Amino acid sequence: MCGIIGFSGNLDATEVLLNGLSELEYRGYDSAGIAFFQNETIKTIKTTGKVSNLIEKVASIADKQTTCGIGHTRWATHGGVSDTNCHPHTFGNVTLIHNGIIENYHEIEKEFAKSGKHPVSQTDSEIAAMLINDLYEGDAYEAIKKATTILDGAYAFCILFKDQPGVIYAIRNGSPLVACQAEQGSIIASDMVALIKYSKDYFVLPEHHIAKLDGQSIEVTTLEGNQMEPKMLHVDWDITSAKKGGFAHFMLKEIHEQPTALHNTIVPRIKNGKLDFKEDGIDDDVFTGINRVIIVGCGTAMHAGLIGKVMFEKLLRIPVTVEIASEFRYNNPILDKNTLVITISQSGETADTLAALRLSKEAGCKTLSIVNVKGSSIARESDYVFYTHAGPEIAVASTKAYTVQLSSIYMIAFKFAHIRGMIDEETYASYLKQLQEVTTAVETTIGYDKKIEEISNCLTSAEDLFFIGRGLDYALSCEGSIKLKEISYIHSEAYAAGELKHGTLSLVTDQVPVIALATQEHVYAKMISNIREVRARGAMVILITNGEMPVDDDLCTHHIILPKTDDQFAPFTAAVVLQLIAYYTSVHRGLNVDQPRNLAKSVTVE
Ligand code: M6R
Repeated sequence: MCGIIGFSGNLDATEVLLNGLSELEYRGYDSAGIAFFQNETIKTIKTTGKVSNLIEKVASIADKQTTCGIGHTRWATHGGVSDTNCHPHTFGNVTLIHNGIIENYHEIEKEFAKSGKHPVSQTDSEIAAMLINDLYEGDAYEAIKKATTILDGAYAFCILFKDQPGVIYAIRNGSPLVACQAEQGSIIASDMVALIKYSKDYFVLPEHHIAKLDGQSIEVTTLEGNQMEPKMLHVDWDITSAKKGGFAHFMLKEIHEQPTALHNTIVPRIKNGKLDFKEDGIDDDVFTGINRVIIVGCGTAMHAGLIGKVMFEKLLRIPVTVEIASEFRYNNPILDKNTLVITISQSGETADTLAALRLSKEAGCKTLSIVNVKGSSIARESDYVFYTHAGPEIAVASTKAYTVQLSSIYMIAFKFAHIRGMIDEETYASYLKQLQEVTTAVETTIGYDKKIEEISNCLTSAEDLFFIGRGLDYALSCEGSIKLKEISYIHSEAYAAGELKHGTLSLVTDQVPVIALATQEHVYAKMISNIREVRARGAMVILITNGEMPVDDDLCTHHIILPKTDDQFAPFTAAVVLQLIAYYTSVHRGLNVDQPRNLAKSVTVE
């Protein structure tokens, strides 16, 4: 959804910006550009394609010495991928970069057209540059403030005014911006990964506040003109966490990081044999007075919610619905103070999930969010936050964030089932023990890497594929399917295994592989019947079971036996297999694993 960065200080700014854009590239990779002050002008260099194209272009330019500039890596929304539509955009005195969507840009554009002013690009962002330029009479604060009363939509802007060399202004509404004042200068960006090289201490620019960066300091001012001290945060990971560290891709690295991520998320919360959420600020009465739970998220986060539904309903006996965040607020949901809304988000910035959270709060619901990025919008706006400790996830395909989301859901379910007297001491202790052992089981499953690489060869030329399962395995199938399609571009669908014969079975042929999850013993016999149904239509079947299970010779083409865990923990190990299948299929098809076409990591627009 676009990555933006601004730097003013005592380093070569083009280098800082280009390094930062390389870190932020996961947010969009349609085009990239920088603009910087030089000899009383602002120089802009931009190009379509990846940041590496921009780095080459900048390298070929002799005169690029500067200490202050801004940079952008784009995920195209308004206006196609072209040189003209690349950021930064300049109009008159103003050069800016933008992450977000200006919803009323067309109306503003029409107003400008009346006085003969026209943008050169097709972007909503250039209209913002035109507007701020129009409102600018030497006072940047006034111009930005007035612009915010006119602009509708989501934005994070970094803005240069030609007559204020060395200074960057920034403001945000909806889209993220974090900043730090380091020894080397002032720096602001969409994500901490671009800042960590300079400082581990940073702040989230509060919404509707203007930041002024001049290299020596960062001043944060309310729209009313009052200076304020933003709340400082600290990250506990370092720059190596945001590098590939010898792995071929970030996705593979992140798959391998799951045992550590799980350990870091689970272990600190178990004290004296009990779950303790005091440091999370989560009271024991979160579930008191509520009579239902709604879990909201997008994509993989929503799929973690599907597992959550099964676990919460099983252990807490509370009705749970799982909602796709982009649908939620437009469906007039029934919400009241007896509803607990759990939002799940790796980035904590997904626009639809954030909007669902805001709607739930307005309706008086209790809100709890499971979030990976500290200080993100969803984390800040929820009544309760349960942080996952996965560290930065860079690959667009979410892996470690998913398994730590699962572990968080399990911990919440175990703790509140215990508090509410739904499970006895012995069961509680056994669940906690098994949850901790998941880390080792996941590690063992990662060790199946080579076998899964080999099996995945048979998917390389598939055009369509099905994932089937029942109960927790159906929820997992949804996750397996999204993972495969987003990075391998193979069309795949997840089906509840029993539902196939109600229509979908007509699509199954010997050209359509089926990945069958059969990790749940209580429905194992039913699953076997469903697998027979697809085998009878000639489908090649990759079967995944939890430990050794009775399997007839002709039941499947390939059989992956997960390290045996209690069935309810099988989603952790099965998820790893599905991630590796997606990963190797993408690799075998020669695709860009970490940056699949048309997608971006953090979806901060509707
Ligand atoms: O940051 P979030 O967890 O809110 O992101 C939600 C989805 O955009 C994300 O999980 C997406 O589906 C992944 N690319 C899937 O691998």
